[in-house]
Amino acid sequence: MKDEMGFPTRREFLKAAAAASGAALILGIGCTSEDEQDSDVEGGDIQPFSPGTIGTLQLKNRLVRSATGECLALNGEFTDKYLETMTALATGGVGMIISGMTAPVQTDAVPLQLYAYDDQYINSLKKVKEAVSGAASDCKLVAQISHSGNLYVGETRTGPSNISWPGDVKPMRALSVEEIGAIVEDFAQAVRRFKEAGWDGVELHAAHGYLLSSFLSNYTNDRTDLYGGSVQNRVRILREIVERARVLVGSDFPILVKVNSTDSGDYVGEGFVGGIGQEVFLETAAEIAQMDIDALDVSGNSWMETASSDPESQSFFLKAAEALEIDVPVILTGGNRTVPRIEEILTNKKVDFIGLARPLIREPDLPNKWSAGETTGAKCISCNQCFYNIFAGLRCHQEP
Ligand SMILES: Cc1cc2nc3c(=O)[nH]c(=O)nc-3n(C[C@H](O)[C@H](O)[C@H](O)COP(=O)(O)O)c2cc1C
Ligand code: SF4
Repeated sequence: MKDEMGFPTRREFLKAAAAASGAALILGIGCTSEDEQDSDVEGGDIQPFSPGTIGTLQLKNRLVRSATGECLALNGEFTDKYLETMTALATGGVGMIISGMTAPVQTDAVPLQLYAYDDQYINSLKKVKEAVSGAASDCKLVAQISHSGNLYVGETRTGPSNISWPGDVKPMRALSVEEIGAIVEDFAQAVRRFKEAGWDGVELHAAHGYLLSSFLSNYTNDRTDLYGGSVQNRVRILREIVERARVLVGSDFPILVKVNSTDSGDYVGEGFVGGIGQEVFLETAAEIAQMDIDALDVSGNSWMETASSDPESQSFFLKAAEALEIDVPVILTGGNRTVPRIEEILTNKKVDFIGLARPLIREPDLPNKWSAGETTGAKCISCNQCFYNIFAGLRCHQEP
């Protein structure tokens, strides 16, 4: 693929450079072993336990713990239970952990979250990273940074426009341009704090109806200024965050972005259909992939669906992810449950990494089980009790 000027794309450039220098790992695309470099570049098989890279990060396998709100922090800092949860994931074999939402903006922070809105939290964040690395030095730790916006648990919600998601009766307030500028700066400073705390990267949460997701959506964003209207304008807040963060952390620190491939789903209102669909998603993803980011994590508002051992019920957003023609690695999150299905997806090479959330709440050691050859699918039955009871602290309610 070439860009409109005929130059090689970022992904092509990285691949060529990696092949030439034999340093695919460092350059952020391709795989870690000689075989894997060949296979990624030339077309061999990629399997769940093939190493891979995201930006400057070397991952030991293709399994990623998808961001899952732990609700186990206190006053913005980790607790013993938080560390227990994270280290269990690390020793359970996953290649990379993405934390649950952390708060970059004080007025949007929710109790029980990790806070990242002030330098005073850097020390606490540092200790989380040390604990995870101490438990498994080959497990990477990425922080999800999110502003709740349209889904804030407090009284007044804020968003791009005065438009709530269907079924939401709380008051909404549209943000001013000045407020958007302040949020951009807050996100970027939070990225810097995670870098200073030694974390391996960040994920900007632009999915599931939260603030950045609402800016991207043609349902909740009807602004007529620079932040609304065209897809280019709807992604502007995200672009500004990435650009400002790059000034603060440089080009090597991995920045991932999680997006909705569909806004439809029960999460924002029963039976809601509308907002981002396949066509707008592809256009939006193409815009985001042009930013200086390292991976796109594909999700959707219908993430609470049930996945079973039946391949047809799994990997909810596969079709959307496979339609992407972008130059950054793709993480597919939502409904991934069995090894054969995951192998098939990775073999098709449109998806580079597999996100797992609920399966790892029930079985944090699922990657180890699978790598030891266990053939059973995830034990998670998608009852969603962990989500409905999230403010009691993250755990599987099907386990004693
Ligand atoms: C209890 C719970 C908390 C979650 N918290 C977050 C979160 O903080 N950020 C996020 O992007 N997604 C969150 N999710 C969604 C997951 O990352 C994932 O997109 C979704 O669960 C679908 O994947 P799964 O089928 O592997 O569970 C959460 C899901 C659950 C069950
Ligand atoms: S509570 Fe239900 S959805 Fe959550 S991890 Fe357990 S089985 Fe899965």
